[in-house]
Amino acid sequence: MVTDQADLYAVATAFRQSRMVAVAVELDVFSLLADEPATLTELCARLRLHPRPTEALLNGLCTMGILALDGDRYRNRAPADSRLDRTEPDYTGGPFAVAGWQFPLWTRLRALLETGEPQGADAGLGFCPDSVALRRFVEAADARSARCGPALAREIDPAGATHVVDLGGARGTVLASILHAHPHLTGTAFDLHAVRPLFDEHATRLGLTDRMRFRGGDFFTDDLPPADVYLLGHLLSDWDDDRCAYLVARAARALRPGGTLLVHDPLIDPDRPHTNENWVHSLSTQLIGPAGTVNTTDDCRGWLAAAGLTGIEVRAFVDTESLVVGQKLP
Ligand SMILES: C[S@@+](CC[C@H](N)C(=O)[O-])C[C@H]1O[C@@H](n2cnc3c(N)ncnc32)[C@H](O)[C@@H]1O
Repeated sequence: MVTDQADLYAVATAFRQSRMVAVAVELDVFSLLADEPATLTELCARLRLHPRPTEALLNGLCTMGILALDGDRYRNRAPADSRLDRTEPDYTGGPFAVAGWQFPLWTRLRALLETGEPQGADAGLGFCPDSVALRRFVEAADARSARCGPALAREIDPAGATHVVDLGGARGTVLASILHAHPHLTGTAFDLHAVRPLFDEHATRLGLTDRMRFRGGDFFTDDLPPADVYLLGHLLSDWDDDRCAYLVARAARALRPGGTLLVHDPLIDPDRPHTNENWVHSLSTQLIGPAGTVNTTDDCRGWLAAAGLTGIEVRAFVDTESLVVGQKLP
């Protein structure tokens, strides 16, 4: 909340700090320093950078508390030492990669407001021009959903269920949390074909190749696999109302009788005023397009009801997200 002039100034200039960290992540400064603290000269030589702006960047990161300077050597401080070092299992630098490709989009905010038209690539993988960009995108999705997997595992009633499908399940991180928590379940991540290599690599790393598999395709047009549980996480806010309703109906059709469908997203919930933060997310998805918006928990209830699901409940979920759950009649 902005309460005084200093807060206003901090908001006005926040993009500068964001860019500094995002570019340092892009250059892999933190992975490099995790190997060994380094001097300005060493870093500039390794990364082929100009010393004057690089010194300002590194010292700026020190004043933010992200790096420290011991003598003439820079080193990572916590949490950058594990969170921004790409080789660490706790790496969560993905949001900075997203900040990197979203930054030019946000310079088009006024155009969005004036036209109502999206200003960037679509919500599929149109903005991931190559395998490196795709990997960064999937890492970013992981960073955002890291806390969702364990939370979903607690929300799912595993009794009587055998198979879970995560629609738009990326490389399977959420699915893996659920399968770890419920050892009798198997699962499928359904996503675009391009994601398969990242899924295969991740499933192998997690030792889950025998319990989770990948199905490549377009969730609007290709057959969806049957399951007892369907997850739609961080998906619907990318699409317009008609496509949300259509996707929910397709998933509901693929559910086995007695199955459960769970949607989670940063929805606006009239009963929880702090979820109004999600309007910022709404702008972000509207900039990306083709029709992204942030919907309300009531919209979501409506799509589940229209798909014939019953016992629909809205629950508070991680951060400012909501979970909307419905059942298919046995
Ligand atoms: C915002 S990410 C959400 C990932 C994950 N469910 C999570 O909670 O973080 C959306 C996912 O949907 C996938 N996707 C987008 N359009 C798709 C389509 N038409 N068919 C299948 N997957 C699609 C993307 O590749 C991406 O992995």
